[in-house]
Formats: sequence, structure tokens, C-alpha cells
Amino acid sequence: MSLLIGRTAFGDDKNSGNVLSKQEAESLLNDWVKNERLKLHMKQVAHLMQCWAKEKENLNEDDVWRWQLAGLLHDADWDQWPDMHCKKIIEELEGRNVDPEIIHAIASHGPIHFGVQPETKMDKMLYAFDELSGLIHAYSLMRPNGYESMDVKGVKKRLKEKAFAANVSREDINDACERAKIILDDLITFVIAKQPAVK
Ligand SMILES: [Fe+2]
Ligand SMILES: [Fe+2]
Repeated sequence: MSLLIGRTAFGDDKNSGNVLSKQEAESLLNDWVKNERLKLHMKQVAHLMQCWAKEKENLNEDDVWRWQLAGLLHDADWDQWPDMHCKKIIEELEGRNVDPEIIHAIASHGPIHFGVQPETKMDKMLYAFDELSGLIHAYSLMRPNGYESMDVKGVKKRLKEKAFAANVSREDINDACERAKIILDDLITFVIAKQPAVK
């Protein structure tokens, strides 16, 4: 089953700036995602997007929420409609007149799978955080003290072990760093610093 989306334009430019409220996003998440691990993953990626937008891009509050929302909803359809990932959530957000940039970020979070290239910084950071966040979380679960005193070296060791979190694409992580023009070590440092806040 191909997940290729088959188009590269999403939403309507006149909806630029339209978002879901925190409450609307939360109820969509609770309705669609029953798997707690997946929900945690989405919250982790949302938090990383929020912190990056605020601290590295110096964006205003509205823009920070747009970045956060892309992270929060990027896998919303994966739990119940894996064959329609991420077409289902794209259609839902288009139907609700959401900002096309948010929809594009979601549509491009796996260019190899969906056939949509990350273009904006929001797109690229969502792509970059997605897989790395999962691998670092898996690593925290196997450490006696979780995230405590975790370092870049340890994460890079796990990245080299192909059998560790084998479903995490190392190619995607490297590709994402290249596209976002970010050094892998810096991205790992950021995730280690920010991710523990999400429970
Ligand atoms: Fe995904
Ligand atoms: Fe994801």
C-alpha cells in the first residue's frame, strides 16, 4: 500500500493564519488517537517544535502555536487509519480551513513515503525532529535514569546500532539535518534538553 499523496498543494492560501484552538486540537487528538505511546510521541514532537520556533526562530506567539500544532497533529491518523497516513489528517484540516503551511508541514514529514518535499523551515524541522525524537525516547526507556545525564555520544552510539529502534530511519535523520542545515550533534543536544519536559 503506497502512502504517496499524489499532490503537492494543500489547503487554501486565504486560510493563512487559521489554526485550531488548543481545545480543538486536543479533542481531535483524543478522538483519533487511542494509542498512548503514539499520543506521547506527538506531544513530544509538538513540544520540540514549540521550543525551536520560540528559541531558535524567535517567532511570535501565533507562529509558535502554528509550529506546535503541526507537531501535535502530524501522526493523528496513524493509529486508526495507517493505510491513509497522512491523507486523512490532511483532508480533515483542509475541511476545517486550517493554514496551508501547517498542512504542508504535515504532508512533508516523510518525503520518501508521502512524495512531498519539505520546503519551509517548519516543514524541515518537523521532518528533522520526528524520527530523532522517537529514537531518543526509546533510548531513555532503556536507561536506568531515563533522560538524566544522557549525552550526545550515547545517542550517536544508538544511532550506529542498526538493531536499536530498528524502525527509526537513520537515512531520514541524516537527510533531514542536511535539508534543515543543522548539525546532527546540535539537534541531539536540543532534543535531550527539551524532551524530558513532556510526560
Ligand atoms: Fe508519520
Ligand atoms: Fe511521527
